[in-house]
Amino acid sequence: MTNSDYQAILDAIHRDLKPYIGQGRVADYIPELATVRPDHFGMAIVTVDGQVYRTGDADVRFSIQSISKLFACTLAFQLLGDALWQRVGREPSGTAFNSLVQLEFEAGKPRNPFINAGALVVTDVLCRRFVQAETALVDFMRRLSGEPGIGYDLRVAQSELAHAERNRAMAHFIASFGNLEMPADAVIDAYCRQCAISMSCVELARSALFLANGGVSPASGEHVLDASSAKRLSALMLTCGTYDAAGDFVYRVGLPAKSGVGGGIVAVLPGEYAVCVWSPGLDATGNSLAGVQSLEMLTTISGRSIF
Ligand code: DON
Repeated sequence: MTNSDYQAILDAIHRDLKPYIGQGRVADYIPELATVRPDHFGMAIVTVDGQVYRTGDADVRFSIQSISKLFACTLAFQLLGDALWQRVGREPSGTAFNSLVQLEFEAGKPRNPFINAGALVVTDVLCRRFVQAETALVDFMRRLSGEPGIGYDLRVAQSELAHAERNRAMAHFIASFGNLEMPADAVIDAYCRQCAISMSCVELARSALFLANGGVSPASGEHVLDASSAKRLSALMLTCGTYDAAGDFVYRVGLPAKSGVGGGIVAVLPGEYAVCVWSPGLDATGNSLAGVQSLEMLTTISGRSIF
């Protein structure tokens, strides 16, 4: 694709998507998330050669929520390598992101790092290694995006902490199987703060670009992962990154991706670009309705996906 093609495609997507923007349901189980206007739409593509294309609210910061699971997992994978998989699996769950049922059958080993149970184990790894896991993740996001102003939204974090009964239950349940090393409440605290990091589409696309670039962050020059590990993490995004809708998502879009209930979705085309879209209205599976639609349009119009 030429560079002007990407801008033209984003403009066309924004124009043609208008009927979908504002549709779906804004996540309201965290009261502070329910205050976000549903009619936002932003999208940004950052290419491995440093070009940035944007449309709509691409520079407006939003709550990254479970997109943080991708970056937290990257840090834990850096720290533990393949030993991470002794504590977290690599299979799609086929259940909701906050489901408890599988954990009992599978003796406290979560199916994958992108559902809440798996992310809690990943956060435990970070809490063990860093004095403040959420600060380590914020610093990582600042380096990857090149934006020192990134932080977490204390109001969103407190709102989630006040409504974290299910995540607390999950953390204590995992601990009962011996799969947490740190106190469950400390892990929950760090997890909620990670979810409350605020970033824009441009910042998130830039941060995910190392996955499209053989593990090296073009913004910071940091060797985040070796090329093989970057491939493996992208493979996990493909199979597990969009909750129990991963099969439908990959059928429609054909890119590895990670979504969050704030309405953001990050996806990568290896060797080419990282893209982030944000629209807060969610479909029944918890993915951004206009977001999935826009990514489907991107790969369809451009004729480029991983397949
Ligand atoms: O754990 C929660 O409920 C949220 N903070 C994150 C939820 C989310 O984005 C969906 N996760 N896979």
